Amino acid sequence: MFSTPFLDIPPLAAAAGTVRLPGSKSISNRVLLLAALASGTTTVHDLLDSDDTRVMLDALAALGCTIDRTDEAGLRIEGLGGRLRNPSASLFLGNAGTAMRPLTAALALLGGQFELRGVPRMHERPIGDLVDALTQLGCHVDYLGNPGYPPLRIHPVALESLALDAPIRVRGDVSSQFLTALLLALPLASHGGRDIVIDVVGELISKPYIEITLNLLARFGIAVRRDGWQRFTIPAGSEYRSPGAIHVEADASSASYFIALGAIADGAGIRIEGVGADSIQGDIRFVDAARQMGARIDSGPNWLAIGRGAWPLAAIDIDANHIPDAAMTLAVMALYADGPSTLRNIASWRVKETDRIDAMAHELRQLGATVEDGPDFIRVHPLPAAGWRAATIKTYDDHRVAMCFSLAAFNPAGVPVRILEPHCVAKTFPDYFETLFSVAEASRVPVICIDGPTASGKGTLTVEVARRLGYRYLDSGSLYRVTGLAMRRAGLDAEPAHEAAIADLASSLPLVFSEGNVLLGGEDVSDAIRTESAGMDASRVSALPAVRAALLGLQRGFRRLPGLVADGRDMGTVIFPDAELKVYLTASAAQRAERRHKQLISKGISTTIADLRADLEARDLRDSSRQVAPLKPAPDARLLDNSSLSIEQSVEEVLHWWQEVQPFESA
Ligand code: DC
Repeated sequence: MFSTPFLDIPPLAAAAGTVRLPGSKSISNRVLLLAALASGTTTVHDLLDSDDTRVMLDALAALGCTIDRTDEAGLRIEGLGGRLRNPSASLFLGNAGTAMRPLTAALALLGGQFELRGVPRMHERPIGDLVDALTQLGCHVDYLGNPGYPPLRIHPVALESLALDAPIRVRGDVSSQFLTALLLALPLASHGGRDIVIDVVGELISKPYIEITLNLLARFGIAVRRDGWQRFTIPAGSEYRSPGAIHVEADASSASYFIALGAIADGAGIRIEGVGADSIQGDIRFVDAARQMGARIDSGPNWLAIGRGAWPLAAIDIDANHIPDAAMTLAVMALYADGPSTLRNIASWRVKETDRIDAMAHELRQLGATVEDGPDFIRVHPLPAAGWRAATIKTYDDHRVAMCFSLAAFNPAGVPVRILEPHCVAKTFPDYFETLFSVAEASRVPVICIDGPTASGKGTLTVEVARRLGYRYLDSGSLYRVTGLAMRRAGLDAEPAHEAAIADLASSLPLVFSEGNVLLGGEDVSDAIRTESAGMDASRVSALPAVRAALLGLQRGFRRLPGLVADGRDMGTVIFPDAELKVYLTASAAQRAERRHKQLISKGISTTIADLRADLEARDLRDSSRQVAPLKPAPDARLLDNSSLSIEQSVEEVLHWWQEVQPFESA
């Protein structure tokens, strides 16, 4: 996951490959609640692991559910069987509507004392219509803040005292989650001899989400009868029964980004595993809308294959009420269409993670687009190549804003897109950007090169700059060190007679960098390559031209999305001569000797500063006068003398230079 303040997505040119998507949020949280309410044990496979499911799991654990991980990445949940183990709890539900609404209904019926709260935005998301319906029934729910909104306090009631004779009326035109919440929870009260009837007041929105609810209730033994979309009946004597095991489909809303990717990007097409056109999720109907815009889509059980069809895409005018979440993706696809596209009947966007109509309109305009919007619609005009701007996209703590705007990186103007707070995707798809980068190709992946004399602090600076930008990191010195080690192990020496053999080794190193460790053929050699003698060997093999040539391809291979910070000799001259930024880091020999002295002392190695300084000066001379790859700044490198700078100041300076060569306005 990217935990950086922003993520710059370079202009993307093509995409191809297969993605496996995380489980559906809507299915995951419904299944978790049903498994908790049921009697018996349910094993849940392919559950989404995200912020919203984590708050649900934490809440269920706080209520006394036993939850264990199984061997095959499943989760085993021991149901409460309708009886609470902890009759009072204070639950934090983040910004998860799929946890807040159904838990409110279930806890109001389970008979305990509870407090439910969330992040500030959750306290602006309406829940009054659900509380009204519960109050009608005789449940006792108080608002702890603004009336109509969380946080809530729930008081116990006796199930026998509930007014279940008359139909329970609930509004369906603000959020379908109110009806879902009642449908999931009311079987708790169906032990008596009477059916429980729910009447929907107003036009029910987001009907496909109700289909998911009904489908999953059926899997747990509750056969709800439905009369149109107005009346729902839970038969008398309904009881939750665990299906034993249940698989969560991949998230169809998450699939929308990759369906769009296949429709927009040039390339051999995108295959999505984990969800197919027969999905129970309403957002799968996004497939129809994408087809209408020109995408070529095939599907089978649990897979979709998407390729570019019409290009530019065909403009669309659509009632998007049935695909409220996925329709945000259409709003970005509309930038690539042959005319203005209109998404209608989307008033529910205004009460989601953020006011999504405002958010989408504002950020699309940042890209340069012309957008019209109203209480329940948005119209997006296509953006010609000359109109695109390198925009900084605000994401409003809304995962879907972050994800759908990544598609703007396919713009014909070749400008990058900066996504602020990219970690908000963790709500439903923590590895979204990594998954995107695994199939997308950039015409140019940005590189920052950092070189400088020994002990100048370039390694530390490189790691930190990479971390701050969310970029990959190449410590090229370690490649020479590993080559030196491989040479020793093969019984070779760094002499001209062995040069070809060592170069051969270097060109096929079974090397893996993993979480800061260096693995050679599966063995962790991180320590072995850091010894004094390994440094000597590295220095000697690095003077062999054939070895340098052999490592060229390996080093260039590190240039992958979203970008690279590379440290070492030759970086800005031979390996990445076209790097956007080259930094040559220096510090006075006196300073470097002092720093190295501190380093060695902290490792318990005793030396004198004078000795170290003499060594450094000798090495500088050797390094800069050697024949092969002498140490010298690239002609276009920016010099950074960090003698009197802290690490943080050096990092800031490099990031400042980086910002200067970016087309973005300052974030
Ligand atoms: O940075 P380091 O100490 O890990 O580098 C090990 C050796 O490899 C050192 O002698 C410099 C050399 N080297 C090189 O010649 N070219 C590079 N790109 C990186 C390191």
